[in-house]
Amino acid sequence: MRRPIRIAVTGAAGSIASHLVFKVAAGEMFGKDQPVILQLIEIPQAMDALLGLAMELEDCAFPLLHTITLHDNVEEGFNNVHYALLIGATPRRPGMERKDLLQQNAAIFARQGKALNDYANRDVKALIVGNPANTNALVAARNAPDLSPSQFTTLTRLDQNRAIGILANHTGVNPKDIDGVVIWGNHSTTQFPDLHQATLYGNPAMPAIPMAWYTETYIPAIQKRGGAILEKRGVSSAPSAAQAIVDHMRDWALGTGPGQIVSMGIASDGSYGIAKGIYYSFPVRCNYGRYQIVQGFDLNEFQRERLKFTEAELLEEKAGIEHLLPKDTEARHSK
Ligand code: NAI
Repeated sequence: MRRPIRIAVTGAAGSIASHLVFKVAAGEMFGKDQPVILQLIEIPQAMDALLGLAMELEDCAFPLLHTITLHDNVEEGFNNVHYALLIGATPRRPGMERKDLLQQNAAIFARQGKALNDYANRDVKALIVGNPANTNALVAARNAPDLSPSQFTTLTRLDQNRAIGILANHTGVNPKDIDGVVIWGNHSTTQFPDLHQATLYGNPAMPAIPMAWYTETYIPAIQKRGGAILEKRGVSSAPSAAQAIVDHMRDWALGTGPGQIVSMGIASDGSYGIAKGIYYSFPVRCNYGRYQIVQGFDLNEFQRERLKFTEAELLEEKAGIEHLLPKDTEARHSK
């Protein structure tokens, strides 16, 4: 049996984490031979709820669950962690402006970035889920001067899974026979679910897909899927978000399948003309704990416009919190 790995989860008593931790403890994320230590983090007011969740985890008697520790602060909770799943965030309340949401979460993620820098394992891999996820990731990474920006990623796998699921249902093709579906940009309604590189049974998908359905029905459906679920269920997507977190981390840690392309929000290196440094969702392949952007897609004008549109939103979000980004880290990270 391997040595246990340490996984921190913030917002651990919340809806997404309440599904996620059982999957992690069951070995769905890091494999059936990998014991885990769960370091669960909440705000002080939610510690009772967190204790209740820990009791339920204990009651499952998972063979791979080595230890559970509970924390009401990230400095303690991130101690020596190999993986950090940053899910907790301030939700948008009625009457709250988007810029207020950005500011409040920027403060939370600045502290979390600093805590990862000071307390986590040097090779920590962090996934930011709490919204606005891409900009929160930028804030966290900039507040972690001793870590690489590549150690921070954001979740667009839920959007990718939605895009594959809806396409599978429309075409009658099994999701496992669909590849190359790409989510570009922000995890928001400006994201671009791109089928131009997609394949069905290894053959190009686009010829089989009516353009009007693609642009008028499919793309808006993916972009607004979160809102549609909220309207129907009265709560935001949680089981599907937990599954996407498992998929994202498993692929990052253990590698993508042969030829498989997945979407991850990562610090832009300027690929495809996207501004360097912002956290933008790109097509990637993962191997040996690293990811690489899939290069060489010949983008047409329609695609390029969509890429720029979602980039503009991220640049605007960045401008709103620029004053909270330490300048010295930028210089250090770009060396
Ligand atoms: P939730 O409201 O059920 O749970 C959030 C939990 O975070 C609460 O228990 C709260 O006490 C805790 N929390 C708040 N601030 C914290 C802090 N500073 N440190 C530790 N814990 C803290 O929300 P849910 O449904 O679990 O969603 C969590 C976040 O994930 C939201 O921001 C949501 O918008 C985002 N989300 C992102 C998705 C993506 O694809 N990127 C998909 C779905 C949700």
